[in-house]
Amino acid sequence: MQKNLIIVLDFGSQYSHMIARRIRDIGVYTLLCSYKLSVSEILKKNPKGIILSGGPCSTYHHQSPLILKEIFYLNIPILGICYGMQMISSLFKGIVKKSIHKEFGKSCFIIDQKSLLFQNIPRQSNVWMSHMDEVTKVPETFHVIGHTDSCSIAAIQHNKKNIYGVQFHPEVKNTKYGIVLFKNFVLTICQCHPTWILKNFLQKKIYSIRRRVQKNKVLLGISGGLDSCVTACIIYKSVGSSLYCIFIDTGFLLEEDQKNIHDLSKKMNFPIKVIDAKKHFLHQLKGINDPEQKRKIIGKEFIYFFQKESEKIGNVNFLAQGTIYSDIVESSPMGTLRSPIKSHHNVGGLPQRMKFKLIEPLKKLFKDEVKRLGKQLGVPKNILYRHPFPGPGLSIRIIGEVNKRKISILKKSESILSQELQKFGIYHLVSQAFIVLLPIKSVGVMGDKRSYEYVAALRVVNTEDFMTSTCSPLPYQFLEKISNRIINEVDGINRMVYDITSKPPSTIEWE
Ligand code: XMP
Repeated sequence: MQKNLIIVLDFGSQYSHMIARRIRDIGVYTLLCSYKLSVSEILKKNPKGIILSGGPCSTYHHQSPLILKEIFYLNIPILGICYGMQMISSLFKGIVKKSIHKEFGKSCFIIDQKSLLFQNIPRQSNVWMSHMDEVTKVPETFHVIGHTDSCSIAAIQHNKKNIYGVQFHPEVKNTKYGIVLFKNFVLTICQCHPTWILKNFLQKKIYSIRRRVQKNKVLLGISGGLDSCVTACIIYKSVGSSLYCIFIDTGFLLEEDQKNIHDLSKKMNFPIKVIDAKKHFLHQLKGINDPEQKRKIIGKEFIYFFQKESEKIGNVNFLAQGTIYSDIVESSPMGTLRSPIKSHHNVGGLPQRMKFKLIEPLKKLFKDEVKRLGKQLGVPKNILYRHPFPGPGLSIRIIGEVNKRKISILKKSESILSQELQKFGIYHLVSQAFIVLLPIKSVGVMGDKRSYEYVAALRVVNTEDFMTSTCSPLPYQFLEKISNRIINEVDGINRMVYDITSKPPSTIEWE
């Protein structure tokens, strides 16, 4: 059990995971938990501090989620953010109302009273606001410690206990001193020690996997992506030749994936068996249009191959997966507030009853932590700096039914994109870039002849952690080049569009 743990109770804010992310950056282990966590479950985890996240609800509505008041008597410091602060106020008999001036975006925050929460923060600084409600009367046992122009109660503190609330979002980068505020809360108020160091994590993981596996065997499906490669390296360090890596070629992979796998196997010294399952996967997806169904089928078929392979090897008790924290957060709702977004194939697709026990060494890590771990482990650069690629691969970038022709069209387009990203020096400046083949056809004119072909979309995003993203503002010459080359060189596409939506409201992949 982590001795220095902060738990974030999630009330459904789009920024909740960012709170956990920021605190990990300070070096303190944090878990994002459902707001439904009971007091006894909280005590079992033994946190040194609790953060109540923001959320889309209003505390004055009947069915809004609330925490139990007992939480305030555990003697554990508490920080409420936005909805979290409003909830604290309501529960201590303050008043929360719809704001007269809704505030979204940058605001100038002014500290009114000295507080441990504001150490090393100037009296006046920019913060990020995003709220429709506000506290209009502070509970009697609290006092105001800060305000903005349009929000006179923007930060509060309990008169005796370590309970704080801020109306703004310190987890968002636009709050200039957000990280200082978190440091004050986590290190000074909660008295955590920054012991969350990835090197320690690695050593502990290796030891615990070795103890768990003992003389059994572990099977790992490796994809050529960062997460499964890092997982393979950790497990190989733990159990050596008891690890059996298989690369299932679903036919939905990029050309470079096989090469990456070959490089990894050579560099890290462990064998990887390649299984050609192209026909099998294509057959299983015949007639399937629904994205969730595709994902579930792919998950199931992966398990089918794992089971088949494990029977050949014999005595395989463990299945390892490269699941990371965002896969879990996005696949399963924390409470009932946030609906599941999509079943990441390695989370949603697994059958309830499986003969394997799971080993998922990365499931509490964010993407950039996995990358740092990969660096430490000596994972080859082409894998380390490769854009992420979803497990179901091209099958979820072909909207609607998948067939051989569409796969071939998409592979050719992806290959052109990859060449141009390198030529323009853009590949490493963006977080992820790919093409989506749409199930609609449009009319065009090519060489004086009418054409009626598919439309494809280019998607290029920038993101820190893949939980939120913005569209990358690419140079026009690049967009033009991609469009010209794909339309001229790929039979089957006669129109390109550029997807400029951010996440949220869209997701990065289209399915
Ligand atoms: P979304 O589309 O959910 O994607 O905004 C966030 C990141 O996750 C990748 N992704 C997946 N990765 N299995 C994976 O391993 C999946 O099923 C899956 N679906 C999406 C996506 O490419 C992006 O980087």
